[in-house]
Amino acid sequence: MDTPEKKKVIFSAIQPSGTITLGNYLGALRNWVKLQDDYHCIFAVADLHAVTVRQEPKNFRQNILNAYALLLACGIDTEKSLFFIQSHVHTHAELAWLLDCYTQFGELSRMTQFKDKSLKHADNVNAGLFTYPSLMAADILLYQADMVPVGADQKQHLELSRNIAERFNGIYGNTFTVPDPYISTVGARVMSLQDPSKKMSKSDENVNAWVAVLDKPDTIMKKFKRAVTDSEAVVCVGEGKDGINNLIGIMSAVTGKTSDEITAEFEGKGYGDFKTAVAEAVIEELRPIQERFEDYISNKDYLAEQYRKSAEIALKISQRTLDKAMKKIGFLAK
Ligand code: TYM
Repeated sequence: MDTPEKKKVIFSAIQPSGTITLGNYLGALRNWVKLQDDYHCIFAVADLHAVTVRQEPKNFRQNILNAYALLLACGIDTEKSLFFIQSHVHTHAELAWLLDCYTQFGELSRMTQFKDKSLKHADNVNAGLFTYPSLMAADILLYQADMVPVGADQKQHLELSRNIAERFNGIYGNTFTVPDPYISTVGARVMSLQDPSKKMSKSDENVNAWVAVLDKPDTIMKKFKRAVTDSEAVVCVGEGKDGINNLIGIMSAVTGKTSDEITAEFEGKGYGDFKTAVAEAVIEELRPIQERFEDYISNKDYLAEQYRKSAEIALKISQRTLDKAMKKIGFLAK
């Protein structure tokens, strides 16, 4: 008799920094939902990562809960996947410290996100901002994840996670699974609607640059109508057309149509019509999520039951890996 093939393990996480954007949704969340049937999926709200920038305590607490509820509303199913809050599972911070000691200053200095964020928060370039990638490596390696579904902006951090795992395994023998990035072909890099040379980011001060998953339909329409384009007025992918390329990418990710199909559909039509159509497609995609979010967020007991149950299981799994790594390093057993 054939033994069934063991399901591969997937790990990914998202920071609860207020606004969860269309970029997060198309680049990551939507793929997580699709992977749940075929993989052993583990997802987290990465609240420990979020304190690398200053958080207002009351808002922070609410944002963590909102992120948990919103991911459930997007379709993360706790019957199929483990879905917990990072700070509820203490092994993450513990392994992160150990991995810090196997990560080089030079490697962390090369992280483009560190360089960008330290420019943006010049008054708070803290050590956590610098060592953030080794916490991310700990998140992944604790669960022996085979694959990590992320947007393109996280690729460099994942390469570092692989290097850390390989280095540790090279010194002590096989301890961690070396994870592969899983970056989808559509939606992996959703750009700002106001400056399409930059990624869509919730930390952008210009609120017209991003669309939030929870933005109201008329806000979404307004933001797309204001999107920066070019003067050519032809809906097709091309050089120097970053704004239109981005809108075609969003349309393609939401509707499943190819860019050629979209170009054919909008032949002879202006950018105004196209922007309205993209906004309408996005509004329809987000509508059921927004409705489900309202249900989840008004049921705090249900949310607590789900994140507590998941954290307990996550602790058991991750403790095994932490114990193994500590034993290999030579710590004295308790
Ligand atoms: P975060 O919270 O910035 O983003 C969550 C996910 O959304 C993707 N993403 C995008 N994809 C396409 N276009 C965009 N404009 C866009 N903006 C964001 C990100 O690539 C990510 O997949 N450090 C991580 C969170 C994290 C993590 C982990 C991820 C903590 N531990 C372990 C994977 C594995 C972060 O800040 O993502």
